[in-house]
This record gives sequence, structure tokens and C-alpha cells, in this order.
Amino acid sequence: KAKAGLTDFLHIDDFDKATILRILDRAQEVKALLKSGDRSYLPFKGKTMAMIFAKPSMRTRVSFETGFFLLGGHAIYLGPDDIQMGKREETRDVARVLSRYNDIIMARVFGHQDILDLAKYSSVPVINGLTDFNHPCQIMADALTMIEHIGRLEGTKVVYVGDGNNIVHSWLLLAAVIPFHFVCACPKGFEPDEKTVEKAKRAGISKIEITNDPKEAVKGADVVYSDVWASMGQKEEAAYRRQVFQGFQVDEALMKLAGPDAFFMHCLPAERGVEL
Ligand code: CP
Ligand code: NVA
Repeated sequence: KAKAGLTDFLHIDDFDKATILRILDRAQEVKALLKSGDRSYLPFKGKTMAMIFAKPSMRTRVSFETGFFLLGGHAIYLGPDDIQMGKREETRDVARVLSRYNDIIMARVFGHQDILDLAKYSSVPVINGLTDFNHPCQIMADALTMIEHIGRLEGTKVVYVGDGNNIVHSWLLLAAVIPFHFVCACPKGFEPDEKTVEKAKRAGISKIEITNDPKEAVKGADVVYSDVWASMGQKEEAAYRRQVFQGFQVDEALMKLAGPDAFFMHCLPAERGVEL
């Protein structure tokens, strides 16, 4: 919903292709400006952003906090013990109160419904910093990385190897907007959400494949991508998953099959010796 001319950022496919490309272009411009040492661009001067983290984070917390500061604003970190959304108080009350103190809310939560509820009840824009369902800012950053290192995103082949998780859902939703070839190679029973796969396919923009054969999948890949086998909230399944995911490790042999020009990407944190 529109909030004083601004919108939430919850899912990549909430936006059209032109908007996504404009965000990526703007990111490159602002990144170059900051890298040049120029600190004169302060669009968030006098603004505050509340950041709710129900789960741990390094990259998301640090990039949001430093980014918002460097662009003139002040970011407030609220960790798992501070807010305890849904436990200490209801999500709608958190949304309403934080909206009155802040200009933006970003949140990393467990259930996807929590981010939807935050967005519904807040009067300021809400940014999704990862849920059990998706991680849109991560895949926007990955798209930027591909543009920087490969020179393009459109028409590339991205092969994700591992668990059909939140990262995969955001890749699928990017593929619903920007044309590229996306393949998810995962063990049987660990496929991404069927409705999201269908949505991405129905968009008719990209070639989408879900397979259980990583060796075949990676052939001709521009990017081989992996993520942890047990995401936050699933750590008690880690030992079981290590057995089931045998054959889905991205190692030198698999990268060889991908070809000499293929890049390896991982959203991090990584478990070396496990998924890579
Ligand atoms: N990639 C990413 O979201 O990392 P963090 O969990 O450390 O924020
Ligand atoms: N799938 C991982 C991504 C971490 C950035 C998780 O949800 O834990």
C-alpha cells in the first residue's frame, strides 16, 4: 500500500521491471558516489529507521545501519530480546508505535505473516530483511553483483544448488520480473514452495526449472549459487539435512561441470565443508 508516496519493499515481484532496474541503476550510482568519498548525498537527513531483528544477522544489519547513516539518517537496532514481536506485544501494536517514532521500519522475522502484518498496520514503509519465505534485499544485492561482475542479469543462467528455501523464493520472484534462466537443483522433498514456482512460471518472463540433478543443472551456468542447508529456525534439522543433502555440495568438481567462466555465489553465512 502507498504510504505518503512511498511503498513497502516486501517481495521483488511487487514491482515492475522498470522499477527494479531503476533501483539497481540507482544503487550503482549511490555506491559509486560513496566509494568516491563523497558524503554530500544525504536523502535521509533527519530521518530514523527502526530495524527489528527476530533472528541473527551480520550483513543485513551492518549494511542497513551503515547505509542509512551514510545517507544522513539514524538507524535503531532492535534485537530479538528487545521487541519480542507477538510475545511481548502484538505485531500490530509494534507496527503502530514504531511508525509514530520512525520514518521507515525494516524487519527480519520468522513467519512471513509477521512482515505482512507489520506492513499492514504501519503508516511508514516496511522493508523485508528476510523472512522464512523470502529475502528480497539479498537477491537485489545479488542482481547488482551480477551486473557489476558479469555485466548483465538478463539472459544469464543462475543455478541454485541446495535447499529450496527463502533465497530460492526471491530468485523465483526476480525471475517473474526480469528475464533470465533460473534453475533450482535440490534434493527430493526440499523443493521451493509450489505456488511460488507456479507464479514465476506463469509470469512467462524467464525459463524456470526445478530439478534433483545438480550435475546436469550446472552445465552452462553463469552463476552457481548456494546457501546453508539448514536455515535460521531449522538448525535442529542440521544433522539430518547433512545426510539428505549428500551430492548437493558445491565443490570443485561441480564448478568444473559449470565451466571455466562460471561464478560461485553464496548469500552467507556459509558452512564450509558442508554446502560448499
Ligand atoms: N546475507 C545475509 O542476509 O546475511 P546476514 O544473515 O548476516 O544478515
Ligand atoms: N536461508 C538462510 C539465509 C541467510 C541469509 C536463512 O534463512 O538462514
